[in-house]
Amino acid sequence: MLLSAATRFRFPWFPPAMAPYSLLQSQRPTLYSSRRKFFAIAAVLLSILIASSLWYKDDTLCQLSIRIPTCTSQKAAASPQTFVHQNIVVASVFGFHFDVWLALVWTIQRVLKGHGHVQVYGDVPFAYDFDTILDRLGLYHGSIKDPAELMNDIRRNTAIDLVIFGTCSVDLRHWHDELLAAWDARDDDHKFQLACTPHHQAELGWHPLITPWARRNSIRLLPISKHVGGAFRKEFKDLGGSLDPKLHSAGLGLVPIDTHVPILDLPHLPDKSGRHVLINAVIQGSFAEDRRSYPYTFENLIRSLHENPTSWGYRPLGDGPSFIPDTTLVDPPFKLHLVGSGWIDLPPQLKNVVEFHVSLNYSQYYDVMAEMDVCVPAFGPSDEYYALQASSTVAMCLEVNVPILATPRMREAYTHIDDDRVSIAYPSVMTEIDAIIALRTQSAATFLASDPSKLGRTMGSNAAVQQAVEQMMAKGWVRSKKGFEATKSEIWAANEDVVKKILLGLP
Ligand SMILES: *[C@@H]1O[C@H](CO)[C@@H](O)[C@H](O)[C@H]1NC(C)=O
Repeated sequence: MLLSAATRFRFPWFPPAMAPYSLLQSQRPTLYSSRRKFFAIAAVLLSILIASSLWYKDDTLCQLSIRIPTCTSQKAAASPQTFVHQNIVVASVFGFHFDVWLALVWTIQRVLKGHGHVQVYGDVPFAYDFDTILDRLGLYHGSIKDPAELMNDIRRNTAIDLVIFGTCSVDLRHWHDELLAAWDARDDDHKFQLACTPHHQAELGWHPLITPWARRNSIRLLPISKHVGGAFRKEFKDLGGSLDPKLHSAGLGLVPIDTHVPILDLPHLPDKSGRHVLINAVIQGSFAEDRRSYPYTFENLIRSLHENPTSWGYRPLGDGPSFIPDTTLVDPPFKLHLVGSGWIDLPPQLKNVVEFHVSLNYSQYYDVMAEMDVCVPAFGPSDEYYALQASSTVAMCLEVNVPILATPRMREAYTHIDDDRVSIAYPSVMTEIDAIIALRTQSAATFLASDPSKLGRTMGSNAAVQQAVEQMMAKGWVRSKKGFEATKSEIWAANEDVVKKILLGLP
């Protein structure tokens, strides 16, 4: 059709070889009509090919380096040869979070594929025998230098083009003045970029140190969960609206913020899909009441034990306050494990119900955690863990394949666990203890018949509540190892994309 129309109107730009169709047609009609057919088919095939490459793979355009707005990720263009940053140093003087920034080093090494160079600076040995994990998982293949050598190396080796700090609040404070002086001393062709991981947005003390780097368009933030990045974005937007010219001229609103979720690939995690009785729940993290609502959780557990000890697998011990395992029951008794460090007062009622695991090294920690059935965040009412700070619990539970109890509020903040394959969504009208006992007994009847408000209305009399609880019950608490692995693979791929973006020097 295209060709016949073209011949009819004699497009002036028609290739010479094809122009004389109408003249030649009368002489050798068969030959030229079949040639016409051939060109027509070829043209149609070619346009289909081009159209499909444009419509279905906008990456193709990125590869051809045609700059169009849809070409945002530039994933296809990211090969180690095109990275503008290939000489990277990763450092920290902080004694914690090494599992966070070494997970980032692991991602960088995967992305670099042997091109470029990463050098780590840290105080070794790392706490809790993490060095063993580091070697076993192959997170980093190079040597670990003394952090005291970092500044000399940066001054001496102008090939170093990306500096990454594990904990902004500590490391940026530690190196800031010297590092800025080193940046200023370099010529324009040898500037480096700075990236660091903030762990809590409300820790404001170091934030003024971001401004000079933002002014030099040389800093980016790399929090471990999206919501922390969101809190910084809001702060930077607010500061961008400042009436102080020194502040709004810094361009804080343009500081790139990405998320790198620190999840390691632990081998030999057990497959627990065959389990059907919920026995082991864990609250992990330092035993600090300002971080987690231990007393509230204990109180709810004690109340529920009194109401129905058999459901939990216990019976009261004489007239005393304690409960002991009821050995006449088929199912093993429930255990609440507290994995962490520090000290917390335990009510005597829970002496046999709660098990402490204190100051474990990483190998022991992973072994204990991996056997758990559910993770209990036990966050307090404050907004901190949902809006400002990322809890280690979320990453840790995902890492060891333990489904985490999560309210909608939790799943909105930690988008990487907003996924039924790795978390147990429960409505916030339930407490964590309500959810656990309903899942353990496979019945929400007790909860729906309860009236926590004492206003004479049972939970079940609210149809919306009933529906939300039924949704939770329908999915149960068992999650497959396959599901965890699929989710983690997606997170690792997303982490690699973030690192590629950084190494390509993209905002
Ligand atoms: C962790 O601690 C246990 C018990 O103290 C010890 O046997 C084990 O060797 C330690 N693990 C590592 C990796 O050092």
